[in-house]
Amino acid sequence: MSSPVQERSGGAQLGRALLLLLLSLSGCASMEVIVPNQIDALNGTTVKIPCTFTSCYKMDELTFQMNWTYQETRNDTEEMFLTYYRKRGMVPLRSERFGERVMFAGNLVKNDLSITLSDVQLDDEGIYNCYVKNPPDRIQGHGIIQLNVVTELPPPRDSTIAVAIGASVGGALALLILSMVVVKCLRRHRKQDLISEEKMEEEGKLDAEAVAEEGTK
Ligand SMILES: *[C@@H]1O[C@H](CO)[C@@H](O)[C@H](O)[C@H]1NC(C)=O
Ligand SMILES: *[C@@H]1O[C@H](CO)[C@@H](O)[C@H](O)[C@H]1NC(C)=O
Ligand SMILES: *[C@@H]1O[C@H](CO)[C@@H](O)[C@H](O)[C@H]1NC(C)=O
Repeated sequence: MSSPVQERSGGAQLGRALLLLLLSLSGCASMEVIVPNQIDALNGTTVKIPCTFTSCYKMDELTFQMNWTYQETRNDTEEMFLTYYRKRGMVPLRSERFGERVMFAGNLVKNDLSITLSDVQLDDEGIYNCYVKNPPDRIQGHGIIQLNVVTELPPPRDSTIAVAIGASVGGALALLILSMVVVKCLRRHRKQDLISEEKMEEEGKLDAEAVAEEGTK
């Protein structure tokens, strides 16, 4: 006999299994916002800050909502600098921080909400939030991107050194493996030679013995 507790968890498990089955049958789990976790931008250049989303529903411009916000750190308040308006589409808001430097660079038909930020300043470093709501999808999507502004690209030397080291280590390994294979082949050859020599010797011995035996008869 099973206890009531076991029965209850059995029921919950069945419920969850049914829900998963329904979700997989509908072929659609939920909204998901896809962003890079981190972007490094060079001071003074234009950087694209990507944000795309997946949803079970086609975007409906009457109910769709989205906005971009900026915050210097997680503890700071969020400053909205771009939003979606019915009829007007994606509109940068007046912002002291960004001025005219923010532009919509995505494509609503492709669920692409990316923006570009031009003439990147050191002060632009911080957290960029991409919020999306695509009813009847009930989940609010939220992508978080950490933008780092650098004054110099990391010296390419590092990567060439890494590549050189990688190549030489790889080359050395390949040589080592090749030489091992060659040595093994040579050894096998020699062994075979030895074996056949031994065989010949043995056969010769047998012949000699046979001759000797015959001679004694
Ligand atoms: C950032 O770039 C601007 C113009 O490209 C330059 O004047 C400024 O000195 C740079 N700042 C730093 C800290 O490198
Ligand atoms: C920003 O967008 C999210 C998601 O659509 C929405 O919930 C939130 O209310 C918006 N914020 C503002 C200030 O409009
Ligand atoms: C955010 O606030 C918490 C406590 O209020 C503090 O411990 C933390 O250091 C703060 N983080 C930043 C990045 O300022």
